[in-house]
Amino acid sequence: MARISQETIDRIRNSADIVDVVSQYVNLKKRGRNFFGLCPFHDERTPSFSVAPEKEIYHCFGCGAGGSVFNFIMEHENLSFVEAVQQLGLHYGIEVSLSGESGSKKFFTQLYELHEIAASAYTKNLFSDPGKTALDYLLERGLTEETLKEYRVGFAPDAWEFLTEKVKGQGYSRESVDKSGLFGKGKQGVVDRFRSRIMFPIMNRTGKVIAFGGRVFDSDDPAKYMNSPETPLYRKSEVFYGYHKTAPAVRSAGSAVMVEGYMDFLQLVQVGIENVLAVSGTAFTTKHAVQIGKITQKVYLAYDGDEAGQKASLRAGYAMLQNAIAALIVQVPEGLDPDDWVRKEGGDAIRTGIEKAIPLLNFHLEKTGAMELPAVERSNLVKEILEEIAGVNDGIIRDDLLQTLANKLKINEQEMIKQFQNVINRKRKPLQIEKSKPAEPTLFTTVSQKAQIEIISAMLTSFRDVKKIVEKNINLLTEPLLNKTAQLLLEHRSGTTAEVLEEFNNKKERETVAGILMIENKVDDPITVVQECIHTLKTHPIREKIQQTRLKIRELEAAGIDSSDLIMEVSRLHQQLRSI
Ligand code: CTP
Ligand code: MN
Repeated sequence: MARISQETIDRIRNSADIVDVVSQYVNLKKRGRNFFGLCPFHDERTPSFSVAPEKEIYHCFGCGAGGSVFNFIMEHENLSFVEAVQQLGLHYGIEVSLSGESGSKKFFTQLYELHEIAASAYTKNLFSDPGKTALDYLLERGLTEETLKEYRVGFAPDAWEFLTEKVKGQGYSRESVDKSGLFGKGKQGVVDRFRSRIMFPIMNRTGKVIAFGGRVFDSDDPAKYMNSPETPLYRKSEVFYGYHKTAPAVRSAGSAVMVEGYMDFLQLVQVGIENVLAVSGTAFTTKHAVQIGKITQKVYLAYDGDEAGQKASLRAGYAMLQNAIAALIVQVPEGLDPDDWVRKEGGDAIRTGIEKAIPLLNFHLEKTGAMELPAVERSNLVKEILEEIAGVNDGIIRDDLLQTLANKLKINEQEMIKQFQNVINRKRKPLQIEKSKPAEPTLFTTVSQKAQIEIISAMLTSFRDVKKIVEKNINLLTEPLLNKTAQLLLEHRSGTTAEVLEEFNNKKERETVAGILMIENKVDDPITVVQECIHTLKTHPIREKIQQTRLKIRELEAAGIDSSDLIMEVSRLHQQLRSI
């Protein structure tokens, strides 16, 4: 097992603010001391997922998920603990060195380095002799050198070992090379994956290169575009091309213009439309919608002006509405894409196009000629749209859509609501069975368990006050999980509760403990509370014994057997109680 030093783990945890990290995946709203949002680990409509910044932990009381910032990344990105620490370390610029297994040593660092080497090599190549025709082609297509350099566009020559040569003998592990997505296997071993292609580097939000899109150039390869595969660095469904540069503009403009292609993106940025984003190497997914929802609630879709583009924009648009993002369709002239459009008619044409964009549903109805359709087809279309609307969680948006639908198609509103209910009823059942895993918390319900939990809560809120008294009575915490939690809290007194969670390797245990650590109780007088709990823990077993003995006495008496021994026992137990 590869190991990372505790000191490094602590440093990364201190830098990686859990709210900041979780916010990259979940739209969090502050309420009181904690933050709440829709749980990313199960399907839900009302937020039961919370993050406690002071404790540096998260917990979902819907599905029971919970843990530290590292657990969050592990579960969300499906990584091991070591990989999660490495990922966060890289993000926050903290060097993570491993001891032990050398195979995974600096795996992520190497992946980033390989991409950086590739990006530099491709750009250098574009701006030197072998890239001249490719550069001329790009300039001819209206991109300026400045734009090309800003977005680090490059050129991979028609060679099998252009990049391979640069990487060979530099100490990169087999695993890093294999998993980078930059290479393939040829007859003689490793070869370049991208050949004779114009290279568009895809960056993560901090501007590090994590993948490439390659457009064919001067080759008869039938695949016009080839993209990096999914790699540990590159999750297609969450990445936007150009995000690291344009996200601030999207935020300040209050909207994004979404395009399909790298060329579209660059062309729009170049004419001064700065709030552009492009999906990279895949269709628009719900995850994209979730990502975008963190920076804006309004998106203009400027997809290709053909049938395929329109279909894709409907799909993307509904995914956005379902995530409470207003989707407007820019009507790109038939047969053009935004890149062609800008070149043909200039930036102002597309600016006007954006101003005249129409809401998704109106576009859908117009495009299908819904108003003129025969009844049967119209009814099918309505059902299809109602299915989409049923996926919209936001009540206001949903009502608005239903109203537009009824008005535009002149449908009786009652009738439509009835149909909508049918769709909802049909949709909901399988959805819930399939997607939401009900919480199965380990329930702590007995008097003694509750007292132990209360002690832990007091430790969380007033550690210094209660430390000594808990330490002295730790053996009274008889519930193994609670005892371990309390012990860990005592050991990690200077650290955070997150550290405690990381000690639980068993997921179920960790989640249960996360739930307990999340409990907020305002203890006015923590010492008294703990003393009372301890008193309960001491007396409760004796009381139970008394109870049981009494029952036995009654049984014996009913059977006519002498019970004086037991009566003595009861009085002894009572004495014991009084002495506590
Ligand atoms: N795309 C992709 N993978 C493919 C095909 C397309 O990732 N196999 C993405 C690329 O981002 C591409 C966009 O879809 O830029 C649009 O594809 P297309 O319309 O075919 O290309 P254009 O961007 O118009 O490219 P060009 O103008 O250079 O022909
Ligand atoms: Mn094009």
